[in-house]
Amino acid sequence: MKATSLLEKQHRKVESIFKQLESGRSEPGPLLAELANELVAHMAIEQESFYPAVRQIKEDLILESYEEHAIAELALKRLLSTDPEDISFKARVTTLKELIQHHVEEEEEELFPKVEEAIEAKQLEQLGKALKAEFEQRLAEGYEALLPAGYKKTSADKASHAKHANGANLG
Ligand SMILES: [Fe+2]
Ligand SMILES: [Fe+2]
Repeated sequence: MKATSLLEKQHRKVESIFKQLESGRSEPGPLLAELANELVAHMAIEQESFYPAVRQIKEDLILESYEEHAIAELALKRLLSTDPEDISFKARVTTLKELIQHHVEEEEEELFPKVEEAIEAKQLEQLGKALKAEFEQRLAEGYEALLPAGYKKTSADKASHAKHANGANLG
């Protein structure tokens, strides 16, 4: 599967969990854990592999993406530390959903088409394969292992300033 198709598929999965959460039909606890696992693993593979691989194509958009991931991660942490009985629980679910929605729209409408134009199909398939393996690994590690403690630093900051991200494309 092409990298962009794989990432889109993961977007749809996260959206479906949001829908279930907002419907209020099932226990929020397990849904929240599933959401956090899927979302954090997805953001991790974008931050660590996909964004560095396509950073040259549209660097301003990639740097903006890292910032949007950072804000989403903070919103996710606030939600994870919120009791489902809290009056702000629903508002925090909706706010996180809207942040993600905006970001996903930019990826799918602005970034991915440029990536598909710039990178050969065969290469995109290879990247997709690597991303899929990485995603399974991150998913198995679980969100708690992947999220940095506290609110000062996000996993996105670490990735956007990583040597491999700068080295290849900014020289
Ligand atoms: Fe993203
Ligand atoms: Fe994404």
